[in-house]
Amino acid sequence: MAHFLVVNGPNLNLLGSREPTLYGTDTLADIITRLEHLANSRGATLTAVQSNAEHDLINAIQGAKTAKVDAIIINAGAFTHTSIAIRDALAAVTIPFYEVHLSNVYARESFRSHSYLSALAVGVIAGLGPIVYELALEAALRRFAPAR
Ligand code: DQA
Repeated sequence: MAHFLVVNGPNLNLLGSREPTLYGTDTLADIITRLEHLANSRGATLTAVQSNAEHDLINAIQGAKTAKVDAIIINAGAFTHTSIAIRDALAAVTIPFYEVHLSNVYARESFRSHSYLSALAVGVIAGLGPIVYELALEAALRRFAPAR
């Protein structure tokens, strides 16, 4: 059975009320519930973690190796643009990962155009709102839990 980990970084716990014109009105719980249903409907399982602390995110990524996670979907929030440590953790576990962003990071401040993660990602989906998570999960499902 395929197993996926969804990692959300700082301030994404505020989804729903945080800058809704940029990030939409769905809460993180709404998004995770939809992802769980999608995964379960395809015979896969999904675990989600959110933290505002870089070390928690790194520990979650490291733990994914022991937990035999097949793929990671990650929105590292602002750590995307700053964290060599999260990039190193993803490189260390060698688990395929999909980078997502709710907003179009390329249409915003120039510092958001650079990601420390993208070069290692299977793919990057940005700017489509909460559906980015489902699109990334769909890609992971097709690769790791194809219909029989
Ligand atoms: C974000 C984009 C980042 O630049 C920002 O710091 C976030 C959210 C997004 O989902 O659009 O926290 O990752």
